[in-house]
Amino acid sequence: MKQPVITVIGSLNMDLLTTISRLPDQGETNFGESFYMKPGGKGANQAVAAARLGAKVSLIGKVGNDSIGVELIQHMKRENVDTGHIGISKTKATGVANILINESDNRIMVVSGANQEVTPDYAESCKETLLASDVVLSQLEVPVETVEWAADFCHKNEIPFVLNPAPAVPLSASVWEKCSYITPNELEAALLFQEPSFSDQLITTLGPLGAKYKTLFIPGYPAEVVDTTGAGDTFNGALAFSLGVRLSVEQAIAFANAAASFTVEKLGAQAGMPTYEKVEERMGLNA
Ligand code: RIB
Repeated sequence: MKQPVITVIGSLNMDLLTTISRLPDQGETNFGESFYMKPGGKGANQAVAAARLGAKVSLIGKVGNDSIGVELIQHMKRENVDTGHIGISKTKATGVANILINESDNRIMVVSGANQEVTPDYAESCKETLLASDVVLSQLEVPVETVEWAADFCHKNEIPFVLNPAPAVPLSASVWEKCSYITPNELEAALLFQEPSFSDQLITTLGPLGAKYKTLFIPGYPAEVVDTTGAGDTFNGALAFSLGVRLSVEQAIAFANAAASFTVEKLGAQAGMPTYEKVEERMGLNA
């Protein structure tokens, strides 16, 4: 199998995870149960997901000039993600995400910090890497202008571009037709598209149920749910990986569903991300 080359333009955050049995009401103080700090950010998570599966991955992103930034870069190196395009902001702190985990579901608040400095000019300075990619993958935790630039650049250069529109923020309408695939969850799809007119590109993720593509429903895999954080990111990293090895889109979605089912079984976005062999095993492909 050819090793796919994937470039992610996206965020790096330190995730501050608190598990809590009941979310506080407004004005109320409540006790959490446990607290963890773990590497996250949708861009970094998707990069790690693809790298664990065996892709050659570069991440175009930014961290602050602080100890968290150093830790995140070291972590990406350990995960075999190329960090040559992770810049260091002179003025902004590394992004953080406050995550409340309650009854296996989550609520996330992101403070973007240095991720805001992933500008179109910065992405353009990495264009040789983009041109050498089998697939480029992005999300919306970096400035929308950068995503719009990337969609346009990839379209002009015939590089498959996958956009995970998370979190759902308004984008110029011309972006969608430049994407090879757009991968919202149901909530994001409802917020972004009233009547999607690009159904050949739209893959809507449905959590444990799997994903919808055109008229097809491609089922998810059963899993013991501990924490759903990062499941969508694993789906996107695995989708990019499988499109990069030239699976059909239907096969790529099934593979991505299987990969995502591992992530929910561990606490934190990246801890449960699987290797290629584990996904094959869950799909029953190596019997
Ligand atoms: O998708 C999960 C991610 O969203 C977390 O890792 C957090 O950093 C936020 O970016």
